[in-house]
Amino acid sequence: MDIVTNVEDLRKLSRKKLPKSLFDYMDGGSYNEKTLTENSSDFGELYFKQRVMVNVSQKNLGRSLMGRDYALPFGIAPTGLAGLYYPDGEIVALKAAADWNIPYTLSTVSICSMEQLAESNPYPYWFQLYIMKDRGFTEMLVQRAQAAKCSALVLTVDLPTSGQRHKDLKNGLSVPLRMTAANVLNTLGKPGWLFQMSRTRNRSFGNLKEILSQPNGNMTGLAEWCASQYDDSIDWRDVEWIRRLWKGKLIIKGVLTPEDARKAIDSGCDAIVVSNHGGRQLDGVRSTISSLNRIARAVDKQVEVILDGGIRSGQDVIKSLAMGADFCLVGRPYLYGLACGGRAGLDKLFTILKNEMETSMTLMGLKDVNDIDMQCLDNPLRFA
Ligand code: FNR
Repeated sequence: MDIVTNVEDLRKLSRKKLPKSLFDYMDGGSYNEKTLTENSSDFGELYFKQRVMVNVSQKNLGRSLMGRDYALPFGIAPTGLAGLYYPDGEIVALKAAADWNIPYTLSTVSICSMEQLAESNPYPYWFQLYIMKDRGFTEMLVQRAQAAKCSALVLTVDLPTSGQRHKDLKNGLSVPLRMTAANVLNTLGKPGWLFQMSRTRNRSFGNLKEILSQPNGNMTGLAEWCASQYDDSIDWRDVEWIRRLWKGKLIIKGVLTPEDARKAIDSGCDAIVVSNHGGRQLDGVRSTISSLNRIARAVDKQVEVILDGGIRSGQDVIKSLAMGADFCLVGRPYLYGLACGGRAGLDKLFTILKNEMETSMTLMGLKDVNDIDMQCLDNPLRFA
């Protein structure tokens, strides 16, 4: 772990460790990956203001979100199949999130079930929900999230159908991994991962098994299964239905325009996530950092605004807050860390992001993360 100094190092290391189909599933985006690329590269379009001779010896990186105090202004985005990257990956990640006092989100498409996760640790986590074709099944997931005392429901609204990821199709991605000749060769070439995964304690495939036991789910062809389960007839009335069912905090994830942000507010949510699903859905849509400020202005503090997509450093977190986000989530960086070394990899990731934030804030003359605004940037109008 010592040679790892930034998120890109974690990415490279995870590539060495994982079977190709798993790395590609995690790392890739849809179609030409234009949106995936710009999610990160657009952060480079924003410049900081350097401020000197300010006493910043006492710093605060803590931030509150939906009435709860967190130690850092970022948390873990929902990502499917996390338990395939490291044994009991979701359980390991929740423990890390609890110790670091940051939010953790369990994906609908996770290996560990909601109940198993809740049993493993009393730290309240967020549950991410997709509205499936079978509304009875969807309702049952909401009730289970309530029973598992999830502290927020993250309703993902940008997946009425799946954006195509060429690499997943070419790799024949399936769960469990389909043993094509290429997959066998590739997996045998990763004995460390094979050995590591043999230590998985929770082999029930919790959530995933149940989801795949829905009509058309046969544990193969993840992309085909997704196509059969996701529902392109969903609309804002379904969101209102979920709002009535779910008694706790509701976060709507996948908003990318001011118009939809207003609709999300009208549907009664507590927060929105400005997200394009990490460039895995509509390729050609704008990056989240370039969309953020217009949305934040339209929201006008009526609900809290969270940003995900492309964050690869503490500097990116600062730029997100400056452009109007109240909080951030990281997706791939979390999986890179998990795949590299489980808890040690996650500690490394959070340490990197925290140190990058602290150092940059020092050099920007900033004491408190809550003071970050557009004034901290040299050219905020680039994306305003
Ligand atoms: C995701 N994402 C996602 N989102 C969601 O709502 N439910 C899910 O199950 C998943 N699964 C998933 C798997 C993988 C491998 C990735 C990379 C992403 C999207 C995720 O929550 C988040 O929006 C993006 O990952 C943010 O972009 P970055 O941080 O990965 O650049």
